[in-house]
Parts: sequence; structure tokens; C-alpha cells
Amino acid sequence: MPTTTWNRHHVLSLADFTSAEYDTVLQTAASFQEVLSRRTKKVPTLQGHVVANLFFEPSTRTRSSFELAAKRLSADTLNFTAATSSMTKGETILDTAKTYLAMGTDIMVVRHREAGVPNAIAAEMNRLGVRVSVLNAGDGQHEHPSQALLDLFTICSLIDPNHPRLELLKNKKIAIVGDILHSRVARSNIWSFIASGAQLHLAAPPTLLPKLFAEYILEHSELTTGEFIISSSPSSPTPQLFLHWQLEPALQDADFVMTLRLQKERMTAHLLPSLREYHQLFGITRTKLQLCKPNVKVLHPGPVNRGVEISSQLMDDPEFSLIQSQVTSGIAVRMALLYLLGSGKS
Ligand code: NCD
Repeated sequence: MPTTTWNRHHVLSLADFTSAEYDTVLQTAASFQEVLSRRTKKVPTLQGHVVANLFFEPSTRTRSSFELAAKRLSADTLNFTAATSSMTKGETILDTAKTYLAMGTDIMVVRHREAGVPNAIAAEMNRLGVRVSVLNAGDGQHEHPSQALLDLFTICSLIDPNHPRLELLKNKKIAIVGDILHSRVARSNIWSFIASGAQLHLAAPPTLLPKLFAEYILEHSELTTGEFIISSSPSSPTPQLFLHWQLEPALQDADFVMTLRLQKERMTAHLLPSLREYHQLFGITRTKLQLCKPNVKVLHPGPVNRGVEISSQLMDDPEFSLIQSQVTSGIAVRMALLYLLGSGKS
């Protein structure tokens, strides 16, 4: 394992992650990626530890990925599903968490459709003075840190498989396209990509951009491409965050394109004329990728609506698509997070 300093007790958001913490996660994940390529893919690191997956919202890849990651580290795993739990009998979220605490849980991996639930559980664990770590596996429209970290690892280890690190993304052009308004993945990605020094371009119809960004667009309706600038340091002369309500300027010379699912379950109003029109204007296809750098790569956190945000053909094209590699990277990155949170406790 790389020698690292890690003082974080919970992983709830990437907003306050330091460059050193990103690099620690990337390097630790790289060592676990190596373990996963061996014949025996298991290490005894978290033997005797209990990891509880508290998923109050449906999930395929995140939940399976955390479960496999915990098992590869030899932890014991508990799996909770809201629909088949005592919550249907009126038990509160905090009482459910305390039940898992009483069983000796060391790490709680929490997903909930309301923003802030993992923070509330972490605050309760702190209040009780117990050494239980909480890992946010996606809360409402707030954040999804482990997904953004696996996206970061997928990209950085493509550039330098032996030594993935944050600085590899400096000045790379990354476009995030689609339903940014409802995306907790994008909200975490924005922190990590800005921290890396990448040029981040967000492209979406104004109805699918966060309110602050959409208001900026309305105020500057004379522009054809918005430019909302955030620099990593106030003295930095290079703008880092650009907003577009047309796809083409975001794709122009991009190194990486991340497309997002239209999250219909979180939409409270009709925000789009039709899925067909959305695909025409914002769907990523082989033809549209011609605007990007020749070796551009495409990412998607999944689950994918084929033929809506990305064409079916492109999704399956190994020359461009990193979608399967994101899923694979997810196990090593989640092993890294569980290891970093769990290794301090025994
Ligand atoms: C994302 C999520 O649940 O936020 N998926 C994931 O965790 N891989 C994105 C989505 O639901 O579209």
C-alpha cells in the first residue's frame, strides 16, 4: 500500500477534498487494481470489520460494487433494502442506523433519495461518540463522491496506468453533457475536475442546468455560449468552468465527454419537448464526436437510456466508450475508500 496520510473519518462530499486526498485515493485504488488482476483477488485487510450497505433507494452497480469491494477486503457485509425492512413498519432512518451500529458495524455505506441523509447519520454517530464511518453512496440531488472518484480514477489511469494522479488532468478539456440539474454525480465531478485544473465545460438545455447557472444564461441571452467562470484560486488567470446551452462548443476539441442520464424520476415538471428532440440536440453519437480530439473517450455513470443521451452504437464501441471500464474501476476505488476509512479502526 502507498504511504499516505488520511485523517478523514466520513466521506460525504468532495467539496472539501484536498489534492493530497485525491492522490491518496487514486494511488490506493491503483494498488487494489493490481490485487484485482491477480488469481486470488482477495486481501485480509478488513478481516473482522463489518460493512453495512444501507440503500434506501434502488441501485445496481453502486451497491454491488460496494459489496464486492468489501468482500475483496475480507470484511463481513450486511445488506439492507428499504422495501423489505422494518422501515415499512414505521422505523426511522436513525433507528435503522443505530440497529446496524448495535450489530457492530464499522462502516455504513448510505444511499437515500433525500439530500443530507448520510450527513444526518454521520452527525448522529459523532454525537454518540462511536467510531463508525459513513460513506455517501448518493443522496438526492446532492453528491455521489465514490462515483466521481471512480470517474477520476478511470480517466487518470488511462493516461498513466502506473501512477494515476490529479495533475494528469491539468488543462484537459472535459465536457459534462445532459441532465446536470438532477445529477448528484455531476455535483461531485465538478469538485474533483476543478481541483485537477481541468477545463470543465457543462452543456445542457437551460431547463436542465442548476438554477444559478440557468439564471445566468437568462441574464446573458445575447450570448450564444455562456461562460460562467470559476478558477481554482482567485489569482488564477485561467477560467475553468464554462456553461453552454448548445452542445457543439462543449464538444469542440474535448479530451473526455461525460454524458448523463435524463433522471425522469427526479423531474417534477416537463422540462423537455421530447426525447427525440433531446437526442438530436444533446445525444452523443459517433458523428458528433468528430468535433472532439481524435482520441476522445466517452464516460457515463450508468444506468444508460440507450438512444437518448448516447447512441446505442457508441455506448458499445470499445474505441471510444469507457463505460465498462468505469464499472471495473469502481471496485478498486471503493476498496480504496473502505480501506482508508477502515484501516484506522481495529
Ligand atoms: C447514478 C446515480 O444513482 O446517481 N448512477 C450511479 O450511481 N452509477 C446516476 C443515475 O442514476 O443516472
